[in-house]
Amino acid sequence: MRIVLLGAPGSGKGTQSRQLLERYRIAQVSTGDLLRAAVAQGTPLGQAAQAAMSAGRLVEDDIVLGMIRERLREPDTAAGFILDGFPRNLAQAVALDRLLQQIGRPLDAVVQLQVDYAELSRRIAGRRTCVDCGRVVNLTTTPSEVLEHEPCPKTGKPHRLVQRPDDTEATVAERLRVYDEQTRPLIDYYAAQGLLHSIDAEGAVADVARRLQAVLPHD
Ligand code: AP5
Ligand code: MG
Repeated sequence: MRIVLLGAPGSGKGTQSRQLLERYRIAQVSTGDLLRAAVAQGTPLGQAAQAAMSAGRLVEDDIVLGMIRERLREPDTAAGFILDGFPRNLAQAVALDRLLQQIGRPLDAVVQLQVDYAELSRRIAGRRTCVDCGRVVNLTTTPSEVLEHEPCPKTGKPHRLVQRPDDTEATVAERLRVYDEQTRPLIDYYAAQGLLHSIDAEGAVADVARRLQAVLPHD
């Protein structure tokens, strides 16, 4: 199964990817996670990406496409993959089509996660990530015993929760603007290819996961 999850910042792409990879045993390919890892390691790629990320703008296409090309060569993507946060503009979508055609692994579906603007802002404001294991939680919906007492699988101690540096109000506003301007056009692009499914991505995580699985092609 090869799918793209399309959705605004905070729409639940990362959260739903993790549900899917447990169920289908396919790889999650998140360009945001790959870029954050490169920034944290201080690689040349990370240094080139950092300014755009902290301003909420898109990182250059060449950087992101190079990363995707490399990632899709890794063996864990052979059984399938979920693209989370990629493609994000028309040039990336066209380049992805070309790449997947070259390697004979076309997309099976593109799912758009629909969440209203006020809910996106609420979700992003409450998001926290464990610095040690990467678990993503939300201050408003994750049970307090998880937030305060659940042992981190990496340290055995409670999670050390931090806010993502680009989750400040000003950067979020820019990320949402960039989504509307550059990523939203992909909805029509994939609808024209007959690949698009749009689902209501509000409500409990498990309910959204059920709606998502219902639109995916079955074996
Ligand atoms: P990226 O990391 O992709 O960020 P994003 O697209 O802005 O999306 P988010 O990660 O913020 O949200 P999400 O949809 O994953 O939601 P999540 O599941 O965490 O990109 C970051 C930056 O990297 C970009 O701004 C850009 O600079 C650069 N970049 C990345 N890809 C690029 C590309 N292809 N080209 C160029 N630049 C690129 O959920 C959010 C919160 O809500 C969490 O707290 C979660 O617990 C909670 N939540 C999830 N589902 C629910 C639910 N059903 N109910 C209640 N709460 C929920
Ligand atoms: Mg994400």
